[in-house]
Amino acid sequence: KRPAGAPDKSLARPVTKVGVVGAGLMASQLALLFLRRLEVPVVLTDIDQERVDKGVGYVHAEIDKLLGKGRINQDKANRLKALVTGVLDKAEGFSDADFVIEAVFEEIGVKQTVFAEVEAVAPAHAILATNTSSLSVSEMASKLKNPERVVGFHFFNPVAVLPLLEIVRGEKTDDASLATAFAVAKKLKKTAVLTKDAPAFVVNRILTRFMGEIQNVIDEGTPVEVAEKAVEPLGLPMSPLVLLELVGPAIGLHVSETLNRAFPDRFTVSPNLAAVVKAGKRGFYVYDSGKPELDP
Ligand code: 3HC
Repeated sequence: KRPAGAPDKSLARPVTKVGVVGAGLMASQLALLFLRRLEVPVVLTDIDQERVDKGVGYVHAEIDKLLGKGRINQDKANRLKALVTGVLDKAEGFSDADFVIEAVFEEIGVKQTVFAEVEAVAPAHAILATNTSSLSVSEMASKLKNPERVVGFHFFNPVAVLPLLEIVRGEKTDDASLATAFAVAKKLKKTAVLTKDAPAFVVNRILTRFMGEIQNVIDEGTPVEVAEKAVEPLGLPMSPLVLLELVGPAIGLHVSETLNRAFPDRFTVSPNLAAVVKAGKRGFYVYDSGKPELDP
């Protein structure tokens, strides 16, 4: 059954090569997913060779893990490794890419610059997808010559495990681009939903309220362990503060700042979270034993 709001799938264009802008935690997970499910060449780029190498190294290591678990055989592992490359030069990497996804720093100006650079070198038909957590897809597309090919393509951590994908239609996104996005989502075996281009879309709106409130409780003086114990009966897959660390406190802070600007009556920015990010800490826990334990 066609997902609600998805255009006719006959409009979808083929995707034979994928570009990923960024080689950080999210971008590397995306590269792995596209590689595994689409089995097409995937090119990673970043601002320096060290980051590019780290991203490709992550993908290779994850392929080895899949091999170790018996999920793929040696032939497939070799094939997948041969399909992933990393380059510094976007022109070299993306000149024949059909689908380029960015997962760079969550700042609208940075993302607009990245898309302008990609548009200058990618084929005219290429989809430009953004994994933004909370920024406006329309605004991101607004400086481009062809804004109709921009779509929001928002994944959840850990990307390999969580089935949901929020697909976002910008003001100018055309049906062919949206149909291609849905066709790619299907190949990635994700459950795609079409969301409005509203701040933080759907999931992060809810999650940020939830995480913000537990931090307010802590900021107001409730010990972290009490707050964590109190949410246990809710049966969440992981505690909100461990989840915050999985997502990354800097991302959590960005999303809450975006939502605070959009809906100041409902969203707060936790001073404690801001302090965690400023101090460059991972969060409220330490992992010395390999398991999360409260930072004393
Ligand atoms: N990275 C990659 N894979 C991971 C992982 C991680 N951090 N943690 C667990 N996994 C994998 C495991 O390897 C395992 O895979 P396998 O079946 O191939 O061996 C699988 O997940 C299940 O792991 P476990 O059985 O060890 O663990 P759990 O059953 O406890 O599940 C979890 C772990 C899936 C992370 C679960 O706790 C969960 O769903 N947590 C909530 C995650 C969530 O809400 N994410 C959304 C965050 S919001 C977001 O990302 C949006 C952004 O814009 C901010």
